[in-house]
Amino acid sequence: MRKFTKSNKFLRKVKEVIPLASQTFSKSHLVYVDGAAPMFITHAKGSHVWDIDGHEYVDMINGLLPIILGYQYPAVDNAIKKQLDKGIVFSLPSPLEYELAQLITKHIPGAEMVRFGKTGSDVTSAAVRLARAVTGREHVAVGGYHGWHDWYIGSTTRYLGVPEAVRKLTHKFAYNDISSLEKIFKQHKNEVAAVILEPMNTDFPADNYLQKVKNLAHKHGALLIFDEMITGFRFDLGGAQKLFGVIPDLACFGKSIANGMPLSVLVGKKKYMEKVNDIFFSGSYLGETLSLAAAIATIKEIERKGVIEKVRRKGEYLQEHTRRLIADTGLGDVIRLTGHPSWQLFLFSEGYGYKPLEIKTYIQQEILQAGFLWSGSHNMSYAHSKEDLDGILAAYKKVFTKLKRLLITKQLRQNLAGKPISDVFKVR
Ligand SMILES: Cc1ncc(COP(=O)(O)O)c(C=O)c1O
Repeated sequence: MRKFTKSNKFLRKVKEVIPLASQTFSKSHLVYVDGAAPMFITHAKGSHVWDIDGHEYVDMINGLLPIILGYQYPAVDNAIKKQLDKGIVFSLPSPLEYELAQLITKHIPGAEMVRFGKTGSDVTSAAVRLARAVTGREHVAVGGYHGWHDWYIGSTTRYLGVPEAVRKLTHKFAYNDISSLEKIFKQHKNEVAAVILEPMNTDFPADNYLQKVKNLAHKHGALLIFDEMITGFRFDLGGAQKLFGVIPDLACFGKSIANGMPLSVLVGKKKYMEKVNDIFFSGSYLGETLSLAAAIATIKEIERKGVIEKVRRKGEYLQEHTRRLIADTGLGDVIRLTGHPSWQLFLFSEGYGYKPLEIKTYIQQEILQAGFLWSGSHNMSYAHSKEDLDGILAAYKKVFTKLKRLLITKQLRQNLAGKPISDVFKVR
């Protein structure tokens, strides 16, 4: 039985000096079963991580998706070390910016020009500002999660601190439901600057959805922005825009592009991107070279090793067998595994008198005990081995069987190891 003595003790200390005891909501104690989960990771290699108590896990989270190749991937780490010997940030741009821009424009169909940021929020915010500048309009339609800045987060339940005037400018629409977007255009005629969406999260686009979004946006004079933070360099080297054949006006990339180094990218059509000269998008670290070197090495490695397809195949194997286990154990009424094979998401429904998060909490506590770092998704990496995947499948088989019994006998709640996990806010 894994115990989390050091994690729990250290968490109490950290909370005294760091609000939330984490820099990221989705890495914080809020999303783990209280007292019965690891809270801090000391190191990682390949597909494995080690917690502060010394327990080893196969990581199904992969840093919330930047880790596409695996931790401490030699080709990337060597590129970082080589660059470190030359310097980190300079007083003028480095030639690496051009080298990486060339690689990106080669692969991403909608990338005629490129600018770099550090976080995903940097570039989604830049894209929206750019769209507002281009169109002279202020409203935006959003479909997905797009970062922590006012313009987006004001549209969620975590809007505290965001001015009402800003909140009024952002409108949510539902994926694969073109009528929900039509409604926004109807209510805000000639006011919408941009439609920004994750081109895919839980569901594949159905019935030519992405093309319909593009047509609708253009019909109303708005720009189309794809937020490819997760889909980019994961679903396809050219992003979801290449995979699904719909090219947006602007797009935002990050995460997998640099295998864990902080880098994001705004790309788009030249006629719009040239206007970046006129808005303000600028920062001390946006041309930081270790991340640029890491991205160049990551993209070349993805090309060289056929990583996209291999990750997808690993994901297909895991997705197919997990789905079968869900069906075989009779849990299809409360658990669904959705998403692209390279980024799969569990969806839980209320059932047997239990809330979705109680069911998720039970699975998490048991899967952690089996040695898998798990938060309700399969964030696949090239480093996941067949042994890793067969390991989690064997664990699911046991956990799902026990879960079904607890649901039927109404004994789930008394078998939870701690207070159930909570949703930060529901965006997906
Ligand atoms: C689709 C999407 N867009 C934007 C972001 C924001 O990126 P960051 O956390 O790097 O600011 C995320 C982060 O998870 C994301 O998944």
